[in-house]
Amino acid sequence: MVAIQEVQRLQTNVEIVPTQQSKETRINWLRWITDPDIRQWMCGNLPTKPEEVYHWVDSATTDPRRHYFDILLDNKPIGFINIREDHAPSNTGEIGIVIGEKMHQGRGIGHQALDKLVSYAKNTTHLTSLRALIKPNNEKSIKLFTQSGFTYTTSVMIEGTPMLKFEKQLV
Ligand SMILES: CC(C)(COP(=O)(O)OP(=O)(O)OC[C@H]1O[C@@H](n2cnc3c(N)ncnc32)[C@H](O)[C@@H]1OP(=O)(O)O)[C@@H](O)C(=O)NCCC(=O)NCCS
Repeated sequence: MVAIQEVQRLQTNVEIVPTQQSKETRINWLRWITDPDIRQWMCGNLPTKPEEVYHWVDSATTDPRRHYFDILLDNKPIGFINIREDHAPSNTGEIGIVIGEKMHQGRGIGHQALDKLVSYAKNTTHLTSLRALIKPNNEKSIKLFTQSGFTYTTSVMIEGTPMLKFEKQLV
């Protein structure tokens, strides 16, 4: 017998598409990144006020080093995934991912979105390696990245927060 969770995973139709500046994006991002359940896993000075979040959306969609994608489930945005390229001459970048609609976490959507982003990094931006910085107790995220071929390399402090660095070579 196929478990219910497995059926839900098989039924998911996941795409990633470049994020557009829109009212819907602003409203979704504000809701997602101010949610304490999601925010607890992020680090750095994240915006909290609506104007700050809207500014973040606008700069994320116009900065050529930042590649933001909506994660679409059956054509509806449920989160975002991104790469921020490091400054030249580095050919590397850092990944971020949020499944903002919490009811859709744990259904394999993160896996599908991450695999698509890694292909984009390799084939479109031609990066040679990617990294993710993850809080030590974020088991879901650690599992997600290690199962997609990222390996733990070191621990770092980011603005006073201990983070684990996972990396994947693309060449
Ligand atoms: C972390 C996150 C991106 C993972 O995406 P997801 O779609 O929920 O994850 P998936 O369903 O693809 O599952 C990834 C793995 O974690 C496992 N997992 C799911 N829920 C879990 C939990 N509560 N504890 C431990 N592992 C869990 C899954 O079983 C899966 O492993 P498997 O393939 O062996 O079954 C998503 O949950 C999220 O956005 N969380 C909040 C923000 C965040 O933590 N972002 C990452 C910051 S580095």
